Amino acid sequence: MVERATWRTRLGFIFAAVGSAVGLGNIWRFPFQTAEFGGAAFLFVYLVAVVFIGIPAILSEFVIGRRAQLNAIDAFEKLGHPSWKVVGALGVFTGFWVLSYYSVIGGWVMRYIVGSLSGAYFGDPATYFGTVSAGLPALAAHGLFMLVAVGIVAFGVEEGIERATTVMVPAVLVLLVGIAVYAATLPGAGEGYAYFLTPEPGAITANLTSVLPAAVGQALFSLSLGFSVMITYASYVGEDENLGVDGLSIAGFNTGIGVLAGLVVFPLLFAQGVSPETAGPGAVFVSIPTALADLPVGGILGLVFFLIVLIAALSSAISLLEVLVSYMVDNYGYARRRLATIAGTVIFLLGIPSALKTAWLGWFDGIAVNLFLPLVVFLVVVFVGWVLAGEAVAEIREGTRGGESLATAWLWTVRTIVLLGVGLSLALGVYEL
Ligand code: PFF
Ligand code: NA
Repeated sequence: MVERATWRTRLGFIFAAVGSAVGLGNIWRFPFQTAEFGGAAFLFVYLVAVVFIGIPAILSEFVIGRRAQLNAIDAFEKLGHPSWKVVGALGVFTGFWVLSYYSVIGGWVMRYIVGSLSGAYFGDPATYFGTVSAGLPALAAHGLFMLVAVGIVAFGVEEGIERATTVMVPAVLVLLVGIAVYAATLPGAGEGYAYFLTPEPGAITANLTSVLPAAVGQALFSLSLGFSVMITYASYVGEDENLGVDGLSIAGFNTGIGVLAGLVVFPLLFAQGVSPETAGPGAVFVSIPTALADLPVGGILGLVFFLIVLIAALSSAISLLEVLVSYMVDNYGYARRRLATIAGTVIFLLGIPSALKTAWLGWFDGIAVNLFLPLVVFLVVVFVGWVLAGEAVAEIREGTRGGESLATAWLWTVRTIVLLGVGLSLALGVYEL
């Protein structure tokens, strides 16, 4: 058996978890979901879901990983419940499924980096998006993205992931703030803010049966929950760390980046006279080039923007691959390099339909977010809340000064609000499919 790596520092763990969480989900998916489900009403339900479902759920995955100190599948057995291994495996499968189209979008981003260099996307951003986002060019870019992700994972937990994410995470923040400030100066920005930030109570209740599963699904997707990723990352964490503070910081940072992306995209859309309803999955890919086209250094800004998005996407993709590789290394001691290559190839093949047609991409995404994610998280939460129960409370309390009552409140939340919220989203989400 190979000796397990651990995070060199506590920050190493937090950065890696943030690196997994912050990605295309924040910059690509969050703005267009918000637009699709009514703007501020969606934002409101999403924020409630992050606080009352996302944070308790991320702690649930942490508990499993840190207590077991083992990959996300065998962890369940080590904790004394071998039949629950299927939940860990389902999470790994969900990761395969999502990475297959996540990588396609990562490929679009790569094309946009080239587009920044040539200035190709400035002429007609909408048409450019159309040609880049589907067909053979998209397929080639998808292959390239997977190749890069596999290359990074081949180097291992410490060197590859920890080092890369400490650089990429702050970079994402700085650039988004810069573009948000610029967007604020544009005429029409005010309308964008109103649309994004001012919910009408009636709008929230009117569509709650479709907004709820969409918002909960987005919260889970964005926090990388239901993929066994947070279980795996927490398994590299030592005993003396405060999981509660870690979970709060990660969720806070991730949500901040999403909201920031909204503060970029919505003022831009309104300034450009694009109605959010028609924006769709191209929202960020069309609005950013349109905004930059008028600037003297637009090409350079576009290059920096899409480079950072690429880095954020890569750190997320890496975390998905890492889960599987960690399982195989623990069990069979195979070379990381070979494993990463095999996994990458399978995922590439699964992503072919999504690369060829955006409608297929939407189908894969819909199955993931409406079915797989809430299903896996529901099972994880039943396991932690009702099977581990007191054992889980002890794990959360570990390293938390005076954390007894907080840990008990957490367990209560997991058993009630999280279970009901995710269960209801699963039922509604499947009904929507
Ligand atoms: N949380 C990532 C995002 O918001 O882009 C997506 C993701 C990455 C989901 C890794 C799951 C995962 F394991
Ligand atoms: Na995210």
